[in-house]
Amino acid sequence: MVIVHTIEALYEAKKAVVGSVGFVPTMGALHQGHLSLIQQARRENEILIVSIFVNPTQFLEGEDLDAYPRKDEADIQICTLAKVDILFMPSIEAMYEKDELCIGAPAIGGYILEGAKRAGHFDGMLQIVMKLLNLSGAKRAYFGKKDAQQLVLVMQMVKHYFMEVEIVPCEIVRDSLGLALSSRNIYLNEDEKKRALSLSKALKSATKMVMAGELESETIKKEMRLVLAQTDTIEYVAIVNRAFKPLESVEIGNTIILVAGQVGLPRLIDNIWI
Ligand code: PAF
Repeated sequence: MVIVHTIEALYEAKKAVVGSVGFVPTMGALHQGHLSLIQQARRENEILIVSIFVNPTQFLEGEDLDAYPRKDEADIQICTLAKVDILFMPSIEAMYEKDELCIGAPAIGGYILEGAKRAGHFDGMLQIVMKLLNLSGAKRAYFGKKDAQQLVLVMQMVKHYFMEVEIVPCEIVRDSLGLALSSRNIYLNEDEKKRALSLSKALKSATKMVMAGELESETIKKEMRLVLAQTDTIEYVAIVNRAFKPLESVEIGNTIILVAGQVGLPRLIDNIWI
């Protein structure tokens, strides 16, 4: 594995390898969820590039940019074992200039749910993903379904900007009790971990209702809120289609049910695709 920190070194490293590129963008603090993306990308591509970059433009004022977990040594080990070909770990200066041209998230889809709570977050996310996709020259790029709104917005960006990369959605990875893996789970103590399970339990109860024939969104959301009472704050419970338009009733094969809430320090999100 070659580790590169500059754009020039990335281009040099790419010159030295031949074949179709699979790319996994990350912000590091790699866990099993990232590893499953990396492993899938490894299986499906000749060359594998992973990036680790804690992108400042997607953090809002007062968010945990400085406290965001950084585990470079462990991440390098994981990438080496996963047979990554090129690990790209740029500095902020390498990625950004002052007073840049920016692309923005769509006015509705980028400002509801996660975008309502974190207004502007998706602008910064799309800006860095555009840069990273262009730099990697990937044929396929891998994104987890856990950040469902991010995934859908990246797919829209690729479509709207005619980018020649296939975005591959990857399944959510959970711990043995059902908690969706996240770099921020390290902030949960034992009691909070138990209460955090109410997110996946609420999604399970929604799935059961749908399987039993209940499709009305309001009825399903009401039941989910009861299960979510164990969180400290419920931020949202939403039922949307695969383009993130709210649905009055579940459409099998075209629905995402999402929850977000605070348990202890971290905000947690989870979802299920139905
Ligand atoms: O999902 C993430 O880790 C980040 O939003 C991403 C896609 C690496 C962009 O910074």
